[in-house]
Amino acid sequence: MAAEKPYTAAIVGLGRIGYSLGLDKKREQPASHTSALNDNPRIKIIAGCDTDECALKAWHEANRKAAVYTDSANLYARHRPDIIVIAVNENAHQKEAVEAIKSKPKLVILEKPVALNMDEAKYIQAVAESFGVPVLVNHERRFAEDFKTAKKYLSSIGPVQSINACLCSSLCVYNPAEENSGAYSLLHDGTHLVDAVLYFLEKDSQISGTIQKAYHEEKKGGLLSMAKSITEQKPSFTLSQLLNEPVLTGIFRDEKQNIRQFSAHYSNGLCPDITISMSGRSRFFSFEVTITGTQGRICIGNGYLKLYRRENSTLYSGFYSLAADKSVKLPKKTLFFANMIKNAVDFLDNRAPLLSTIQSGINALAVLEEIKRLFQKQ
Ligand SMILES: NC(=O)c1ccc[n+]([C@@H]2O[C@H](COP(=O)([O-])OP(=O)(O)OC[C@H]3O[C@@H](n4cnc5c(N)ncnc54)[C@H](O)[C@@H]3O)[C@@H](O)[C@H]2O)c1
Repeated sequence: MAAEKPYTAAIVGLGRIGYSLGLDKKREQPASHTSALNDNPRIKIIAGCDTDECALKAWHEANRKAAVYTDSANLYARHRPDIIVIAVNENAHQKEAVEAIKSKPKLVILEKPVALNMDEAKYIQAVAESFGVPVLVNHERRFAEDFKTAKKYLSSIGPVQSINACLCSSLCVYNPAEENSGAYSLLHDGTHLVDAVLYFLEKDSQISGTIQKAYHEEKKGGLLSMAKSITEQKPSFTLSQLLNEPVLTGIFRDEKQNIRQFSAHYSNGLCPDITISMSGRSRFFSFEVTITGTQGRICIGNGYLKLYRRENSTLYSGFYSLAADKSVKLPKKTLFFANMIKNAVDFLDNRAPLLSTIQSGINALAVLEEIKRLFQKQ
């Protein structure tokens, strides 16, 4: 049988996730778009683009056969890649994603978060729909073997009583002055944390949607305000279907009044007690989701997966305790990046749906934007 023709790929943004994380000896490899695309026999990288000539030169030295550009418009003028990866900084997501979509590839792989904010994200989504170009968003945990094993194990722990998702780092959680760069952890890493919770809440990997809600305007007296409310349409905002209208607690602001810590509490028909917590006060990095059911518990974080089921207690007669479930084979590698690229190939082969889409990315953004709005009210 003749070998299948490889899909061609181009990468825009050759920094850490585009290239250099693929050289990190401590990380599970492949850990960059370049190494994951190069590792997949069904893909051939034909071009790379970065506005930074040093980054471009370093990448070209390792990818001699690919053409290089400092401007994506020049790349699209000369090549028609099947797959375009957008791995630029957050402030360039909208521009580069839209330009890539308009060049009509078979698939765009867009780094998380979808964009700096909901308006930009929805604009990318609208352009993608009008050009008929599918977009895969790299929320990598949806592809990782450990997260897939954890999701499968949900059916073994009974009805879910609580979900606790917690992110600790030293990066400021929210600083309004960084709205145009996205350099705050609520967006930067928070998008992964919220996406992970949504992933566990979604039934049979059916990606949920969003709902529109009009702002509740406080009634003010006077003819002027009445005239205003008649003539003006109420502005609306987008809420996640699964995680909305939280109660915020534990807000801690630093001396500059930037948010350094918070917890958001949710309740829905799937779980009565969901908490998403983030701290930017920690001298360590950790990412963890703990799900407690009536008969067991799942604890998953960066580098570990622990599955527990109730068993006759070894500590107390007549009680059950949680014990590690040794019957489940835990994956040795997460394959987070390799599986993401495999999903792209399977999708292009018409063999699988995209497992992480622009809609799932927008759902995470809706949760983050609602939390930000609540910060402003506190
Ligand atoms: N999925 C993940 O786990 C993960 C991990 C790290 C970063 N990211 C995301 O990937 C994106 C890039 O992050 P990074 O850490 O690699 O940043 P980075 O600064 O290391 O790399 C970004 C690169 O894009 C280039 N660039 C910026 N604007 C450009 C443009 N208009 N055209 C071409 N090149 C341009 C920059 O010169 C730089 O080399 C961000 O959205 C970030 O949130 C995701």
